[in-house]
Amino acid sequence: MIALPVLAANWKMNLGPADAAAFVAAYIERAPASRDRTVILFPPALSLGTARAAAASRADLHFGVQNVYWEDRGAFTGEISAPLARDAGAEFVLVGHSERRHLFHESDADTARKCQAVVRAGLTPILCVGETLDERESGATEDVVLRQLHAGFSELAPDAIARALVAYEPVWAIGTGRTASPADASRTHATLRVALRRLVPPPAPTAGAARDVPILYGGSVTPDNAAALLAAPEVGGLLVGGASLHPASWAAIVATASLGSGR
Ligand code: 13P
Repeated sequence: MIALPVLAANWKMNLGPADAAAFVAAYIERAPASRDRTVILFPPALSLGTARAAAASRADLHFGVQNVYWEDRGAFTGEISAPLARDAGAEFVLVGHSERRHLFHESDADTARKCQAVVRAGLTPILCVGETLDERESGATEDVVLRQLHAGFSELAPDAIARALVAYEPVWAIGTGRTASPADASRTHATLRVALRRLVPPPAPTAGAARDVPILYGGSVTPDNAAALLAAPEVGGLLVGGASLHPASWAAIVATASLGSGR
């Protein structure tokens, strides 16, 4: 069961094994354990082992990888698979991050195969969707994010989608210092929620473990804007890049989640 909000740190291609361990040690000092949120770190795959070892005393810290290939094993030089990520201690996998889509030409079909591979390995996908500035300015935001959502989950059964997560990351907000307003984020999240409700019937009130698919917001999140974004309707958490690379700012964002969101 995932406690909301979800605070996910995407370190991208930063923090090697020693720096990752040092980060976790420093973060733990600043952030007491808590059951009222879910914290997930996405180090580079090479740093997963040391980061997890540094977090051994903290069952409230979860780990994931930033990408996988869709085959389980074999002659795919340079790739890592979902079963290998699981062996290394990952529980979550980012799928279709905008940098994968735009810098590495990952297609909607690729994201579908990857989500399928992640679920097959018993891991949880976080499917990332988001429009470019051109798409936004031409009024295509809804079409783009819905296309990416439906494509990415197209090979999953409803019960697998029900256990997945989605991250809305407008491409124009990533690493730019330009954040979507809470109202903007809510609007797109509400669109995604309607589509998710069609893919997965809402949880029955009696089903204790059932939950709505959390929809995280990502794009220039900082300790200063985190509380307002988390308080916005349909924002179930945050996916943070730059501000997650420093233990103090990451701990501040996590603390905001506990204090400010009223959850
Ligand atoms: P920034 O927080 O650096 O804008 O990155 C967002 C992101 O891409 C997280 O996956």
